[in-house]
Amino acid sequence: MILTLQLLLALSLTVRTADGYDHYRITDCFTTSSDLTDVEYIDTYYFNKDPYIQFNSTVGKWVGFTEHGVKCAEHWNDDLDLQQIRAEVDRYCKFNLNINFCDVLEKTVKPRVKLVAEKQASGGHPAMLMCSAYDFYPPAIDVYWLKDGQKVTGDVTSIEEMADGDWYYQIHSHLEYMPTSGEKISCVVDHISSKEPIIYDWDGFLPASEKNKFAIGTSGLVLGIILTAAGFLYYKKKSSGRNLVPS
Ligand SMILES: *[C@@H]1O[C@H](CO)[C@@H](O)[C@H](O)[C@H]1NC(C)=O
Repeated sequence: MILTLQLLLALSLTVRTADGYDHYRITDCFTTSSDLTDVEYIDTYYFNKDPYIQFNSTVGKWVGFTEHGVKCAEHWNDDLDLQQIRAEVDRYCKFNLNINFCDVLEKTVKPRVKLVAEKQASGGHPAMLMCSAYDFYPPAIDVYWLKDGQKVTGDVTSIEEMADGDWYYQIHSHLEYMPTSGEKISCVVDHISSKEPIIYDWDGFLPASEKNKFAIGTSGLVLGIILTAAGFLYYKKKSSGRNLVPS
């Protein structure tokens, strides 16, 4: 995945006069990569939404856009302050962009993935599986299904992507399908937090609650067999012991 970013750090200074005129300044930092080799510092002054003077770090001096702006530029470019504003690209832009890249933009958090049966197939109605990925960052993610290793295209009913509101995201993909014996269903999650897409195999046709019932039933059956066997052995021992007693 190629990441192209145009990052904006903006500082706005607004002065409003009583009759509604608006004078403000916006400083922007632009870059297209995290190595910060092409950072540009742009400082623009506006009057009623029209820019009248701008400093562009690539140009290295103030440029006026209006008569007043041109006059200002003549003064400001003559100034020792030019040294200071030329240093802003390092002092202000690189310093802050570095923090943004390290703490936010390049931070990745692996999703927690759950695969559940929402509906079992019955009476000719298809089964429904849901593959959910929770608490991942950044939001770009690809969740898809495999049936015997082949990407499923037709039977995916919906995908909901949601922001948790705490910088993390979640996504849910639903697969409607007619189960056939021996087939293998998997959910694949492709996210920047891992180099390779991660495959989660569906291990059965039973939803979690059914699985619990099945486990309890099986335990009961095993316990029953053990008790029956023990009872039978006890009975055999008793009856063979009785046989030893001469009548
Ligand atoms: C800054 O100046 C350079 C060189 O003229 C130009 O390529 C670039 O687009 C300018 N940046 C902005 C944001 O205007």
